Amino acid sequence: MASFQSNIPLLFLLSLMAAVASASGGEFKLGKENSTHLHFYMHDILSQPNPTAFRVVKGPLKLPALPNFNFGDIFVIDDPLTEGPNSTSKLVGRAQGSYVFASQGSDGALLLTTNLVFKEGKYNGSTLSILSRDSIFAPVRELPVVGGTGIFRLARGYALLKTFSFNTTSGDAVLELDVYVMHH
Ligand SMILES: *[C@@H]1O[C@H](CO)[C@@H](O)[C@H](O)[C@H]1NC(C)=O
Ligand SMILES: *[C@@H]1O[C@H](CO)[C@@H](O)[C@H](O)[C@H]1NC(C)=O
Ligand SMILES: *[C@@H]1O[C@H](CO)[C@@H](O)[C@H](O)[C@H]1NC(C)=O
Ligand SMILES: *[C@@H]1O[C@H](CO)[C@@H](O)[C@H](O)[C@H]1NC(C)=O
Repeated sequence: MASFQSNIPLLFLLSLMAAVASASGGEFKLGKENSTHLHFYMHDILSQPNPTAFRVVKGPLKLPALPNFNFGDIFVIDDPLTEGPNSTSKLVGRAQGSYVFASQGSDGALLLTTNLVFKEGKYNGSTLSILSRDSIFAPVRELPVVGGTGIFRLARGYALLKTFSFNTTSGDAVLELDVYVMHH
């Protein structure tokens, strides 16, 4: 009982501090909402000599549909994003993040968590954040865009991901992305 009572002045002080802190803030104005469609390709290269994706954790269970990969594998990626499907095509950004083989089933579903970091033109320095399920054998996957920075501040939207090419032995893949975002 005594300790309960002795907490009251502290709680009072804390709520006073919170009130003072919020009193120093205020309203802010957002610019008009814009919508943007982006189209580019992502190169996820596991093979030598220039891999862009590295396995950092090897999972415990072999996947029947992809014998070179395991449930629980974690890859860290720094994949180039290019204008066209050829890796020599113009670089527009990078996908920096990770994916986890997160399904024990035959759908090869990944948990893909990545920032798209743009490097070109008015998008240079802006980012989009993707947190998604990527069921890699599906012809089209819908990935939620959960946020962004720079031009893409407060972004929300989705990306449609298609496999342009995939080598099931090496794991090398070229992916086509159409990203649709609303942002301020
Ligand atoms: C990619 O571009 C290079 C030169 O820019 C060319 O030699 C090569 O054939 C192209 N590859 C494909 C698959 O189109
Ligand atoms: C993007 O911005 C960086 C940092 O400001 C700058 O060094 C770079 O030249 C810019 N790239 C392009 C293609 O504008
Ligand atoms: C939104 O669109 C307007 C009009 O096209 C443009 O002036 C403004 O720079 C855009 N804002 C962003 C964040 O792209
Ligand atoms: C797929 O990857 C394997 C292993 O790296 C390689 O030997 C094979 O040539 C590749 N296939 C194609 C079509 O590129």
